[in-house]
Amino acid sequence: MSTQDNIYPIFDRMLSRHDKEQLLGQKGVMLWFTGLSGSGKSTVAIALERELQKRGLLCRILDGDNIRTGINANLGFSADDRRENIRRVAEVAKLFVDTGIITIAAFVSPTEDLRNLAQHIIGKDDFKEIFISTPIEECERRDVKGLYARARRGEVKNFTGISAPFEAPQHPALSLDTSKLSLEESVAQLLQLLNIK
Ligand code: ADX
Repeated sequence: MSTQDNIYPIFDRMLSRHDKEQLLGQKGVMLWFTGLSGSGKSTVAIALERELQKRGLLCRILDGDNIRTGINANLGFSADDRRENIRRVAEVAKLFVDTGIITIAAFVSPTEDLRNLAQHIIGKDDFKEIFISTPIEECERRDVKGLYARARRGEVKNFTGISAPFEAPQHPALSLDTSKLSLEESVAQLLQLLNIK
């Protein structure tokens, strides 16, 4: 094949993931946190992000605060809406991973089916499932947002763990129970998983 046969000259192509990773000096990866409301997903994600930043590594957290108030502001907590929530999050996360960024999604993502969807969109090789396995008793005791109390009174419908299912992942890359581990211990385990000193 002569160079003239190449209908996609190099100047017309977007730079590749590899090019971005070279620029950043790191590899893109997806850390998909799953766990009950109040289990500590966001807290662990934020602590990890700070440790990565200290090491000069670029990280992006996607969580309810920046997704459910923005691109997913039109979605609630029915099974269909949760599926669309996770589908959009996974599509956005994939763009970050393809930019070479260490990407953390912190969503309840309560069922195997939803997490499989995310893994399918992002790709198995890049996807690491992290189960924040704090027991419901502890999440309910914390009740940071007062939602468990409201769910118990029947004021919040389809509340995960109370009136909607949560399926524990069967083979997560890592399980972190924040009622047993300190924040530092959880972060240390994640850094180890990522092979980061
Ligand atoms: S997911 O099921 O679609 O993955 P997501 O992580 O985005 O859920 O949002 C969960 C957060 O929304 C909870 O931490 C809680 O603060 C709030 N929330 C409000 N209503 C519900 C509900 N019915 N079930 C679970 N979480 C709810």
